[in-house]
Amino acid sequence: MLKNPQSKIVAVALLVLCSVIVQFNFSLIPFSGKLAKKNEPSSAPNHSEIRAWKSVEDFEQELAVFKTVFWDPRDTESLRKLIREDESIAGTSILEIGTGSGLISLCCLKAGAKRVIATDVNANAVENAKFNASHLGLESTFEVRQVPLSNSSAFSVIQDSEKFDLIISNPPWVNRTPNTIDEYALYDQNFDLLKSLFAGLKIHLKPKGRVLLAYGCVDAIKTIQKLSDEYGLQYTKIDPRILDRLPEEFLPGMMVQLQFPAE
Ligand SMILES: C[S@@+](CC[C@H](N)C(=O)[O-])C[C@H]1O[C@@H](n2cnc3c(N)ncnc32)[C@H](O)[C@@H]1O
Repeated sequence: MLKNPQSKIVAVALLVLCSVIVQFNFSLIPFSGKLAKKNEPSSAPNHSEIRAWKSVEDFEQELAVFKTVFWDPRDTESLRKLIREDESIAGTSILEIGTGSGLISLCCLKAGAKRVIATDVNANAVENAKFNASHLGLESTFEVRQVPLSNSSAFSVIQDSEKFDLIISNPPWVNRTPNTIDEYALYDQNFDLLKSLFAGLKIHLKPKGRVLLAYGCVDAIKTIQKLSDEYGLQYTKIDPRILDRLPEEFLPGMMVQLQFPAE
């Protein structure tokens, strides 16, 4: 018991102070994320955009998938395995074309990439990739750029001075016209995006750099073989399956590597 009146005053003052601190902390909890759903980042900007939370073997946390944004990790099974296992990803500069939820870029960042720039034509995908990066704490070396539909070539938002060790993409696979923003994930009319990717490689790929693409469409892969000859690129199919024995569209996607021959 406190007999001294001064000690009583100090004790009461301390009690009041403690209760103010406790209340203040509780009022901050929703913002600090301590009470947020296990997988939701504290700074979730707009939960109405989230269509689903999805798990994938590359991350302990689930990833958010926004409305209209593509999600099918089967497309990139072998590509993500390579990123997980290839120690040479660490320290590199990477461009991802068509990032969607950010899945592949985030795998590269987790594997130690020095810097990743990602693009997408779908504004929801741009927000989605940023959101997932901050959710995983990988945002500091990640930049996502919006590609305008009016100029949607592969390097339309990349400066000529920007060069990359690795250019990576799981682009739309099928030569068909997209009618909605969701369909831009699936269809590449006349393979215009693919052709513009090849056209920009001399400028944007560093001399010893490489391109890794995921495709599950025979027509697209045969087009890649032709374009590789045209542009003097070495084409390597990193997949044991025989193209002519596969259906026109197939899953999981096939990984293809492109490189300029060593000088
Ligand atoms: C098959 S999805 C792949 C998404 C993600 N990389 C993944 O593997 O989950 C293709 C993505 O490319 C985007 N896209 C389509 N055309 C594009 C273009 N011209 N420039 C940039 N992104 C484009 C689509 O919006 C879509 O997000």
